[in-house]
Amino acid sequence: MGVIRNLPELLVNQIAAGEVIERPASALKELLENSLDAGAQSVSVDLVEGGVRRIRVVDDGSGIERDDLPLALARFATSKIATLEDLERAASLGFRGEALASIGAVARLSISSRRAGERHAWRIACEAGNVSALEPAALAAGTTVDVEDLYFNTPARRKFLKSEATEGARCDEAYTRIALSRPGVAFALSVNGRRTSHLPPEGSRQRAAALLGEEFARDAVEVRGESTHARLSGLAAPPGFTRPNRDLQYLFVNGRFVRDKVVAHALREAYADVMHHDRHPGYVLFLEVDPALVDVNVHPTKSEVRFRDSSAIHQFVFHTVSRALAAPIRGQTPVSHGAENRGLTPVSHQAELGVAQPAQAYEAFFAAAVVQREREPMAAQAAGEGPTLGFALAQLHGVYILAQNAAGLVIVDMHAAHERIVYEGLKEALDAAALPSQPLLVPIPMTATAEEVEEAGRSVEPLESLGFDVAAAGPRELVIRAVPALLADLDAPGLLRGVLAEMREFGASRALVERRNELLSTMACHAAVRANRSLTVAEMNALLRQMEQTERGGSCNHGRPTWFQMGMTDLDRLFMRGR
Ligand SMILES: Nc1ncnc2c1ncn2[C@@H]1O[C@H](COP(=O)(O)OP(=O)(O)OP(=O)(O)O)[C@@H](O)[C@H]1O
Ligand SMILES: [Mg+2]
Repeated sequence: MGVIRNLPELLVNQIAAGEVIERPASALKELLENSLDAGAQSVSVDLVEGGVRRIRVVDDGSGIERDDLPLALARFATSKIATLEDLERAASLGFRGEALASIGAVARLSISSRRAGERHAWRIACEAGNVSALEPAALAAGTTVDVEDLYFNTPARRKFLKSEATEGARCDEAYTRIALSRPGVAFALSVNGRRTSHLPPEGSRQRAAALLGEEFARDAVEVRGESTHARLSGLAAPPGFTRPNRDLQYLFVNGRFVRDKVVAHALREAYADVMHHDRHPGYVLFLEVDPALVDVNVHPTKSEVRFRDSSAIHQFVFHTVSRALAAPIRGQTPVSHGAENRGLTPVSHQAELGVAQPAQAYEAFFAAAVVQREREPMAAQAAGEGPTLGFALAQLHGVYILAQNAAGLVIVDMHAAHERIVYEGLKEALDAAALPSQPLLVPIPMTATAEEVEEAGRSVEPLESLGFDVAAAGPRELVIRAVPALLADLDAPGLLRGVLAEMREFGASRALVERRNELLSTMACHAAVRANRSLTVAEMNALLRQMEQTERGGSCNHGRPTWFQMGMTDLDRLFMRGR
């Protein structure tokens, strides 16, 4: 073993830089955070060659005192905290006092700054750790930080950098995160001399539209919730708006972009019910937590946090987002366009285009719904607007319902919509108690595998709670004596097989508790009205009204949309009317 000695300061800073300044995008993030901490209202960024050649950030924040400039470059020197209590309560984005020292150790760094009221600015530079003397400079109030030739003195490190395009894209992402976090602050970005982004101070939905696209911003639902120690707000994409990856997931904890497993899991659970498992939701969410209850000093780049009470946070986020996603169909449309109000009347004749294929399975369901509708004449209609989904006109090829509402044409995927309605009905019934059961006048015998017979014998009670009464009638035969009332008249053996398979795979109690929603979703899918079943206008209207009242009625259990609006303006455009 060699002699133990203190490392020279430059080397210490270079080691720190290895953690904090991994690439140009991390340097950019640190500079932008410093600007925000300084209270900047306007920040502009210039990047040259993906930020490797140059990153310049100009802000109009508080500025740095002349005498503090050398300190800004020193390691562990910060104006943001002074004590352990401050650290535990840190509300600023920076607090470690190492970002500028790290950058100065691996690049050519210069800082010019002028505090309001000073006669001129001062400039200091640092090249590979060598700090220059202070000199006067010309600058409006605020701070300009220039970082050139990142990693010029550590060639091994520089080799790890990717192409200009890749590093540039990462800088762009760093810019996006910071700009999303503060919609009230103006930002601008230039890449190789060309202005690529200009963001005035605006609301968070406009900011999201500018950075993440109009579609997301238009369709996203508003999330808002508050508990004793936390507040959640922001935008969450509706279930129909899904992504193949996680690129549209922005979580800010106390204003800082972080990746957090607890919150990510809560969000996945909140969407599990409305989205296919290999798709990903999009969101921009702001979680505010008492700083004393969250530790941000977990990682040198502060990209992770630790919550004092992570299960409370999980529950809070899950419930708040679920509630926002569950809002039943109201005015908002999956694809909405200009909605002038047009006179609206229910259509009373049946224009059937479908291929009739009787399936009495659904008759009971629809009959009940129709009766209900006739008893309560549509109150909304009297108000002139008409119901959100309007009134049915016809059925198209036994698959889609065409309806007319105030905005224009509504197209409904009948199977998807019915599946969601049945599913929510099952969940509600099972939440209330067990599913109501309907005894069969003539029990249905069914051939079964030995495993199915065994599972049915083992799971009598769980099956009862779902509304089944099943008994073994031989080594390879079961007899069904009662079925879930909500699903009566179905292909009972097929439904039972699906349920037994689920119970065999996961255990009956797990299937009912942890996998309850998957189980009910399987049942709903069996039960939902198949394509090619012809519906009367009354049945179609009944389905539309049920959709409006059903939580999450806008998407099926797999996250596909259940309906689609084509506004009159879209149709007019299609026919080039009014040109
Ligand atoms: N744009 C700026 N405007 C005003 N002051 C700044 C600016 N950038 C840096 N400073 C000052 O320089 C100090 C050092 O900045 P640096 O980023 O190195 O550390 P920090 O922000 O305190 O902590 P961290 O290492 O966690 O970012 C800051 O505490 C702040 O006082
Ligand atoms: Mg900082």
